[in-house]
Amino acid sequence: MNTNNAQKTMYERAVEILDLNDRGNYTVPTSGLYPFQWNWDSCLVSIGQQHVNEARAWTEMQTLFQHQWDDGMVPHIVFHELDDGYFPGPDVWATGRPVPTTGITQPPVAGFAALKLFERAKDSSLARQRASTLIAGIDRWHEWFYAHRDPHNTGLVAIIHPWESGRDNSIDWDAALDRVPIDGLQPYQRRDLQHADAAHRPTGAQYDRFVSLVQLFRSLGWDNSQLHDASPFKVVDPGFNAILIRSCSDLAKLADLLGEDEIAERNRTRAAAGLSALESLWSEAANQYVCFDRAVNAFVDSASVGGLIPALAPIPAHRSASLASRINTLSKSTGYLIPSHEATDSRYDPKRYWRGPIWLIVNYLIADGFRVSGHDDLVQRIEASSLELIAQSGFAEYYDPDSAEPCGGSTFTWTAAMVMEFLRNER
Ligand code: DGY
Repeated sequence: MNTNNAQKTMYERAVEILDLNDRGNYTVPTSGLYPFQWNWDSCLVSIGQQHVNEARAWTEMQTLFQHQWDDGMVPHIVFHELDDGYFPGPDVWATGRPVPTTGITQPPVAGFAALKLFERAKDSSLARQRASTLIAGIDRWHEWFYAHRDPHNTGLVAIIHPWESGRDNSIDWDAALDRVPIDGLQPYQRRDLQHADAAHRPTGAQYDRFVSLVQLFRSLGWDNSQLHDASPFKVVDPGFNAILIRSCSDLAKLADLLGEDEIAERNRTRAAAGLSALESLWSEAANQYVCFDRAVNAFVDSASVGGLIPALAPIPAHRSASLASRINTLSKSTGYLIPSHEATDSRYDPKRYWRGPIWLIVNYLIADGFRVSGHDDLVQRIEASSLELIAQSGFAEYYDPDSAEPCGGSTFTWTAAMVMEFLRNER
């Protein structure tokens, strides 16, 4: 098969996966393992949906924002339909929402995704109409972040649960999670292991702490004015902050295009403050950004992909150049790009979720940043490596960086969406 035909087949398969997981006005990441709407999945998936149906892409994000909380938070999962194949379900979260949701959030890619949808729209009047209904909600969410996850005005927000980062069992959280008490833990039963290989998933000890944090926040009535200070787990993740900074900056651009001057100004100010604070997370020793554990006021000894995601933000050129050289170094110890942890780290585990495997959405965010900063060769390498993984192993949730083995769930929606983007860039 020639390259064009192979790409066409890959693209068609990606479209099929988007269809397979489409539930009408939202998309599930994959049936079985994740049967609801996830926050950052949906926003990134909308970027892929735009290739086939612009209206449907806007709807994906609008559905998510219909479940925004009164305080401004956009929850990490919306439980549109009950499905007892997932734990923890609505009864465990008990957030009291009309349509049940979880009580924590996820990486705020909405501003980034909304600008992409708007700038590339073929139907500009539809885009103007849909974007106008979204921007106030995204602005409120950004405001919520700085009010409730940075209550002491450092310029950087903390995550209060590993699930907020999206990188659930990263080595970055090990020390902070160890400090989470589990003495009051109520009995529970995991469901993820019915759908995925236990060797690819977080451990039981990690789940105990994930669930303990949920129980603590629930006991505080999901009151975000209390949760940050009350949480024993609060970590400042450079990747998470970079996503927020880029989304603030992109929302400011979108607001300018829509004539919403106040939203534009507020978000420009947030992005500038975040960017200058992000500099405090730079580690000369690691040659990248690292996490800061706010509970104990210490940097985290882990040079993960979380410290490379800042390539996405408008960081200074010399920082982008250092991150590019860091990725070149990483590529020497694994077959494919970009591992979530370095293979030389004794805690590295190439198949276990976020402790080594490659995730295409991360590749996409990092490549997008390097495209803007002009590192075109690296962009090309990241995209080629990503497509090679698909050619070898299909549309998995994540991949072993050494063997390319598909891990976690299969027929995965955001992997398909990212493939559509990479193929578009190749064309
Ligand atoms: C899970 O259930 O594994 C999810 O990552 C939580 O968002």
